[in-house]
Amino acid sequence: MKSHDLLVIVGVAAFAALVVGAVGLALVWLVRRRSFRWQLAVVAIVPLAGAIAGATAVARMMFLSHHDLLVMTVVTSVSAVVAIGVALVVGMATARWSEALRAQVRGFGEPAPLPAAGRGPSEIRDLSDELASTQHDLQQARARERRLEESRRELVSWVSHDLRTPLSGLRAMTEALEDGLATDPQRYHRQIRAEVDRMSEMVDDLFELSRIHAGVLRLAPEPVLLGDLVSDVVAGADAVARARRVRLGGRVEDGIELLADPTGLSRVVSNLLINAIRHTPADGVVEVAGRTVDDGVELSVTDGCGGLGPEEMARVFDVAWQGGAARTPGEAGLGGGAGLGLAIVKGIVEAHRGRVWVENRDGGNGCRFLVTLPA
Ligand SMILES: Nc1ncnc2c1ncn2[C@@H]1O[C@H](COP(=O)(O)OP(=O)(O)OP(=O)(O)O)[C@@H](O)[C@H]1O
Ligand SMILES: [Mg+2]
Repeated sequence: MKSHDLLVIVGVAAFAALVVGAVGLALVWLVRRRSFRWQLAVVAIVPLAGAIAGATAVARMMFLSHHDLLVMTVVTSVSAVVAIGVALVVGMATARWSEALRAQVRGFGEPAPLPAAGRGPSEIRDLSDELASTQHDLQQARARERRLEESRRELVSWVSHDLRTPLSGLRAMTEALEDGLATDPQRYHRQIRAEVDRMSEMVDDLFELSRIHAGVLRLAPEPVLLGDLVSDVVAGADAVARARRVRLGGRVEDGIELLADPTGLSRVVSNLLINAIRHTPADGVVEVAGRTVDDGVELSVTDGCGGLGPEEMARVFDVAWQGGAARTPGEAGLGGGAGLGLAIVKGIVEAHRGRVWVENRDGGNGCRFLVTLPA
């Protein structure tokens, strides 16, 4: 065949294919709102129709005999039927995958997690994985929200309980004093004073917590020497530790200075320390340590509480949450406890852009509360 003829054939075939391609695009546009399988069918048929159109045009120019054109048209038509069949099958599969995806989206807000679709093309699987992981995150956030709501309800009921009990005690004692029935008025006065102090502490905690939650906790950061601050807090807790025969130890690296609100930070250390003393059996040791780490300063309070279970680990920082035996009448110097201490610690630490968490000590006979603060 001459090269000129070849060029003519290529040109004619290209023109015919372009015309058929344009018609195909128009058809795809027309069926754009219909099922995906219609578009696939058009895509399958376009190359074959293009081949037939090209061959017909070439035949008209006498490059192809009538017989050859007929044979080619028959062969291509049979192929077209098969191609449409394949397109419909793929279209059906795509419809099934998209239906599975739709079911996943419908179940997005449901509590039961929907497994990601393990089948289908990678784009659909990726989308489905993304949906499953977002649903997981959403559920976690909801669970956390539910727990917080529960804690708030518990807080109201426990605070009323924790206030009602000492209040009725106070009333009984003042009535006895009024009626002159108190055998040891001095003891009554001391007891009334202790109860009032405890209740004021609880109200202060509640006030502090409400300020933290309202986002109006005002910090007054200044350079603080961690060693000095910890020594002061430890000295303040010494009497309580002695009374419970708990030894206080640990070491803060020399010269650690950080920018923090001294009152807030003392509160953090003191709440952690009092908790640790409270949960360590007699003759146990509580250690407070401080050191510099890559991203700032790390403070840890280690006790001999016997280890925390997974549920306790997850809830200790929740407002008003208390472990099993914690909600008992107050002990001298340790506070009655309303489950607010660690929520306050978390609020203050986070207001300092720090992090607080708890882990069990190696060997499981105690736990360690860790705080990191930016230097
Ligand atoms: N060092 C610790 N070891 C073991 N369990 C702890 C420790 N600190 C706290 N917990 C558990 O976490 C709960 C919540 O602690 P949190 O300090 O918030 O409240 P509280 O000590 O019970 O009361 P409050 O601090 O308001 O006086 C405690 O009741 C206890 O079950
Ligand atoms: Mg506490």
